[in-house]
Amino acid sequence: MLYKKSLPQLMAESNVEGGLKRTLTANNLISLGIGAIIGAGIFTLTGVAAAQHAGPAVILSFILAGVACAFAGLCYSEFASMIPIAGSAYTYAYATMGEFIAWIIGWDLILEYLFGASTVAVSWSGYMVSFLKDFGVSIPASIAQAPYNYDSTTAAFTPTGAMINFPAMFIVAIITTLLVIGISESAKFNNIIVVVKVFVILLFIGFGLAYVNMDNFRPFIPPSEGPGAFGYDGILRGAGIIFFAYIGFDAVSTAAQEAKNPQKDMPRGILGSLIICTIIYILVGFVMTGMVNYKLLNVPDPVAVAVNAGGDSLYWLRFPIKVGALAGLSSVILVMLMGQPRIFYAMSKDGLLPAFFSKIHPKFQTPHITTMLTGAVAILISGFAPINLLGELVSIGTLLAFTIVCGGILVLRYTDPHINRPFKTPFFPVVPILGVLVCLYLMYGLPWHTWERLIIWMAIGIIIYFTYSKRHSKIRIAAKLNNGQNS
Ligand code: ALA
Repeated sequence: MLYKKSLPQLMAESNVEGGLKRTLTANNLISLGIGAIIGAGIFTLTGVAAAQHAGPAVILSFILAGVACAFAGLCYSEFASMIPIAGSAYTYAYATMGEFIAWIIGWDLILEYLFGASTVAVSWSGYMVSFLKDFGVSIPASIAQAPYNYDSTTAAFTPTGAMINFPAMFIVAIITTLLVIGISESAKFNNIIVVVKVFVILLFIGFGLAYVNMDNFRPFIPPSEGPGAFGYDGILRGAGIIFFAYIGFDAVSTAAQEAKNPQKDMPRGILGSLIICTIIYILVGFVMTGMVNYKLLNVPDPVAVAVNAGGDSLYWLRFPIKVGALAGLSSVILVMLMGQPRIFYAMSKDGLLPAFFSKIHPKFQTPHITTMLTGAVAILISGFAPINLLGELVSIGTLLAFTIVCGGILVLRYTDPHINRPFKTPFFPVVPILGVLVCLYLMYGLPWHTWERLIIWMAIGIIIYFTYSKRHSKIRIAAKLNNGQNS
């Protein structure tokens, strides 16, 4: 289980297989990061976090989650500049902590990417329904919502009366089709979307500021109503949920093989996008909870609800906000549905998943089978699961991945102190240790039910590892062959 891939081996493999062009500059990478980061977290989950958990103190939840991500972002930067290969955390773990941990992280990343795409699709659905409504087209609620709502405080499922979330399934199907036929997001396309969504958010902050009513901040931290609901505990729970909004900066590292100057630009891309988004988020949190009472924000489109509070004079802002949200959410779904097959591809190439996971379409040159498989599962999940249940699962899964990445930096500095590290996490070992602790703390703040689901998910992964992956691992088979020859 401790078989590792050496750095020269990884580099050699990436050169043979990759053939990826090194075209991305630091600005492209920052833009890629923002493209993957700004999505359902800010456009939808902020509302849930404020209404159910933190109240206006959701601003503090943003800061807390941002700090956790800053530590993880520094550790990702060290890895990405040291091992500039697509495959992200899965590859880092294979190089440093061995095959079993690599499998664990690869399996865990499914929660981030596949479930993440489904979560964002549910958010897209909320904005699409509200957008069409403005044009007099109403999609019946019975086909635009999951059959159950989920209350994360009580873990209770309550029927919504709806059958299926059709718009969410629709957007996943469209994006999956695009990805299969190869219309992947180019740096240019992504840049345009990023400009649109950041512009729209700045419009919201700029115009919304004038409508902030300080009364809405009293009380800033509403009194506790039970575990995870308001009070300091609620801020922590809110941070665990809001953490979702920051996910995506790590996706920059999957483009390491396409960066012109990965050693320098990976840290710039990861940390640059993270800093910009943190500032934007804190401002949005302030304006949103200042414009409207937090209790009214438990809706799929809280930014639009805040704009409504501005009355007729802000009515015009509804249209750009919704267009920006729809475009932005689509790009996040795209990046996630594109990232997942890449990770499956890497795992399959290593023998940990069956060979068909790394099949490439002869004409489209895309990993069409895994893309369709990922899409099909994401379609089902987005059609039937409530958003906050999904969001929490994605958050806990990603936090686990970040914890392992921060731990990996610690391990590697001691086990391989002489590797060339173009970017070094500052204040070693404080930053990685704090990274591990803060991520664990945020995980601790998530409800026990989410932990149960994580444990079940990981247990399934471990069973697959021992029944399939371990036996088919290429590195293990090669090692056995070597031993046989030597004896
Ligand atoms: N950070 C991404 C979002 O909020 C996943 O949609």
